[in-house]
Amino acid sequence: MAKTILITGGAGFIGSNFIRYVLQHSDDIVVNLDALTYAGNLENLNDVENNPRYKFVHGKIENKELVRHVCKQFRVNGIINFAAESHVDRSIMDAQPFVDTNISGTLSLMNVARELSMEKFVQVSTDEVYGSLGEQGEFTEDSPLAPNSPYSAAKSAADGFVRSFVHTYDFPAIITRCSNNYGGYQFPEKLIPLMILNALESKNLPVYGDGKNVRDWIEVSDHSAAVWLAYNHGKTGEIYNIGADSERQNIDVVRAILKLTGQNEDLITFVKDRPGHDRRYAINSAKIRNELGWKPLINFENGLEQTVRWYKDNADWCSRVRSGEYLKYYHNQYDFR
Ligand code: NAD
Ligand code: TYD
Repeated sequence: MAKTILITGGAGFIGSNFIRYVLQHSDDIVVNLDALTYAGNLENLNDVENNPRYKFVHGKIENKELVRHVCKQFRVNGIINFAAESHVDRSIMDAQPFVDTNISGTLSLMNVARELSMEKFVQVSTDEVYGSLGEQGEFTEDSPLAPNSPYSAAKSAADGFVRSFVHTYDFPAIITRCSNNYGGYQFPEKLIPLMILNALESKNLPVYGDGKNVRDWIEVSDHSAAVWLAYNHGKTGEIYNIGADSERQNIDVVRAILKLTGQNEDLITFVKDRPGHDRRYAINSAKIRNELGWKPLINFENGLEQTVRWYKDNADWCSRVRSGEYLKYYHNQYDFR
C-alpha cells in the first residue's frame, strides 16, 4: 500500500533529487517541508510541482507544532530528514543556524515521529562526522566520531540524539552517512558547481590551501538510491555509510572541470586555506553493499561530464541562482508561517 513520507529539506540539492527519485520509483506520497533558506529553491522541483503525489509545505523543522500539524494532516507514515544548514564555510562564520536546524530541528522531528508512532525515521548524515583521515584508511560505521567543523559538530550531535532515541525509546531510526555529493541543482557555493560556473564565466577558480585535500565523490542519484533502500529495507538502529570509492584531490577535480569546459589552467587561483580544513575523507560502504545490495552506478568521470553538461544546459537556473532572483520564486500550496 502507498505510504506518505515527510521529506524535509526537499527544496535543496539532494532533497530535490531524492523527491524526484521517490516519485519515479514508488507510488508513495511525498510531503516536502522546507524553510526555503538561501539553499532552498522551489525551481529545483518545477517538474514535479503538479504531481498529485507531491505536496509542499513552507516551514521550519524546528517548529514542532507545525511538524505535528503537517504530519497529522497528511497522515505521514515516516520521515526522511535532509533539512540542514550544509556548508562548512558558513558554519565557520556563524554556527548558530547549524545548531537550530541540524540539532534542534532533528530533535523536533523525532519528538513528533515518536508521538505519532511513526514506522520509520531516516537521518541523512554525513561522513564529515568522522573527522579527517591521514593518507591511509577509510571511515567505517565503527569509526569514532571526531567532528572538526561547526557543521560536522552539529550533524554529529544530531546523530547522537538519534542514537539516544533508538537506545532509550526503541525509536525506529536509521542513520545514513554519505560522502561528498555532486550533480545537477547543487548550489554554487560548493566546490564542483562553483568551479563549473566560474570556469564557464572565465572567472578565477579559488582553490583552498595546496589543493591536495581529498574528497570521496558520489553522484547524487546514487546517494538517493541508497537512502531509499535504507528507508525501505534498512534495519532499525543501524548506521549505513554511503560512498562510491571515488577519492580525488581537489586540484585534480578542478583541472578536470577546466578540461571539460575548455578553459585554461591559468584560471586556478590558490587562496588562503579554510580554518581547520579536513585533509581527507574516504568512505568504506561495504555494509550497505553487502546487507542491502546497493551499489553506485555512475563513475566519477562520466558523472562529472554529465554535471558540467547540466550546468551548461541550465543557464537560466544558474543565472537566477547567481543573481539571487530565485529567492523571489515562491510558490506554495500550504503556508503555515
Ligand atoms: P542544501 O543546503 O542544498 O539544502 C538544504 C535544504 O534544507 C534547503 O532546501 C533549505 O531550505 C532546507 N532547510 C534549511 N534549514 C531548514 C529548516 N530549519 N527547516 C526546514 N528546511 C530547512 O543541502 P544538501 O547538500 O542538499 O544536503 C542535504 C542533506 O544531506 C543535509 O542533511 C546534509 O548534511 C546531508 N549531506 C550532504 C552532502 C553533500 O555533499 N551535499 C553529503 C552528505 C550528507
Ligand atoms: P565543499 O564543497 O565546501 O564540501 P566539504 O567542505 O563539505 O567537503 O568543499 C569540498 C572541498 O573543496 C574542500 O576540501 C574545500 C575545497 N574548496 C576549495 O578549494 N575552494 C572552494 O571555493 C570551495 C567552496 C571548496
